[in-house]
Amino acid sequence: MKKLIITLTILLGFLTQVSAKDLYIFANDTSLTNKDGKVATLFLGLPVKVLKEKAKNVEVTFTAFLDGNKLYASSLKTLEIGKVSKGFKFAKTEGKTVTLKGLVELENLTEVVSEVWEEQEEFFFEMCTQCHAAPAVNHHAKLEWAAIFGTMKGFAKLDEEESAYLLRYLLSNASDGLVKTSH
Ligand code: HEC
Repeated sequence: MKKLIITLTILLGFLTQVSAKDLYIFANDTSLTNKDGKVATLFLGLPVKVLKEKAKNVEVTFTAFLDGNKLYASSLKTLEIGKVSKGFKFAKTEGKTVTLKGLVELENLTEVVSEVWEEQEEFFFEMCTQCHAAPAVNHHAKLEWAAIFGTMKGFAKLDEEESAYLLRYLLSNASDGLVKTSH
């Protein structure tokens, strides 16, 4: 029994360590600075892998689809996840798939993904439950959401800014979005 408890403790310790390596961008327009001092701007909710923690900064990496100076979640280009400044050098380039590496301030990162979308979720429930129950956001893929939202934003009488805000929430939390859920 004692042996089992020790094994479980080690296993749990190992699991928390593994999951701690994925963090989410917690502030919109967060700067990532690469080793040449060039900056990329990262949008809210983007998952990044931790390479090294250094005092107030964390060295992180992630992969994106590049078009011009814009970074997208995939080649579908439905969800923009950030942009790069002129002359930004990538850690790796394979066609239009690029890997970025650089420093992000620790205070702009979180492990708790639900925290990232709290405000948007509240707005979603407020706007999208007037006529029907709240749809399960992760039951639709990004392209489905883009199509459905075209009708629903009119139904909910959202202005341009509110639409962009809510659509970003829906796309990021879609079944093929940025949030890695086990369902
Ligand atoms: C004014 C009423 C109204 C509001 C507000 C509304 N909806 Fe709907 N929704 C409908 C109706 C009616 C349908 C079914 C008919 C249809 O699909 O056009 C529907 C269907 C849906 C469906 C199912 C579509 C499918 O093809 O499976 C989703 C998902 C959805 N709404 C999401 C939303 C979201 C997200 C919002 C908030 C931005 C929203 N709705 C706000 C009336 C509304």
